[in-house]
Amino acid sequence: MSEGAPSERAEPVRPDTPRHVAIIMDGNGRWAAARGLPRGEGHRRGVEALRRVVRASHELGIAYLTIFSFSSENWSRPASEIGDLFGLLRRFIRNDLASLHRDGVRVRVIGEREGLDADIRNLLAEAEDLTRANTKLTLVVAFNYGSRQEIARAARRLAVEVSEGRRTADSINENSLAQYLDAPDIPDPDLIIRTSGEQRLSNFLMWQAAYSELVFVPIHWPDFDRAALEGAIAEYARRERRFGGLAAKTAS
Ligand code: IPE
Ligand code: IPE
Ligand code: MG
Repeated sequence: MSEGAPSERAEPVRPDTPRHVAIIMDGNGRWAAARGLPRGEGHRRGVEALRRVVRASHELGIAYLTIFSFSSENWSRPASEIGDLFGLLRRFIRNDLASLHRDGVRVRVIGEREGLDADIRNLLAEAEDLTRANTKLTLVVAFNYGSRQEIARAARRLAVEVSEGRRTADSINENSLAQYLDAPDIPDPDLIIRTSGEQRLSNFLMWQAAYSELVFVPIHWPDFDRAALEGAIAEYARRERRFGGLAAKTAS
């Protein structure tokens, strides 16, 4: 970068920084319960953590940040909690979209849109449309998302093509199925972080996680911050990714 040129990021990107980080933002309810607060307060504080982490991701040079904000299975929660979670998404988009756009963040949404209220669908579409041309951090919001449902939708689209004679069953392979997932242009996550100590995927990015490094951190999502993100990235940097091959030092 030439001297005096505006800096795109606050600091240089380290070579071991993951390009795509995906986060299962878990533990809002337990964070609130530990403080004698209603679960909704945990979710509200979770949005503040999200703002911190979007900013930190951008500063650290992460290109893609995917966040799990509502799962296909979260419909089994009480209606009042679902109302809180939807209310927070609405408020997050209404309050933060302009500043995300100003910061060059591109918003993408994965998950099932059918069946969502029209106002939520419109907000999600507005966020994607407004930020479409942005080139800094891509923020992928997994909302009403379930990995099995996503894979089933892709399979259905392939089946339609076969039934209409537009492709043969033999032509179906992992690449053609991946083309019909919700965001086929986005690279697989390098690092998946889950907060609050649970060690499972809960139907998150199961196809895309085939070779992701998984890092589980004990803290609840409302307490997650830049230092915690840097800690998870440091753990990632210590891992050796082999993708089914041999360790680099034994490969030659
Ligand atoms: C994560 O926190 C937020 C969502 C699942 C939407 P939880 O609400 O799952 O909090 P815990 O796991 O009950 O503590
Ligand atoms: C996963 O967390 C979903 C989100 C973070 C949005 P859950 O809290 O719903 O997962 P389980 O039920 O503990 O597996
Ligand atoms: Mg949970």
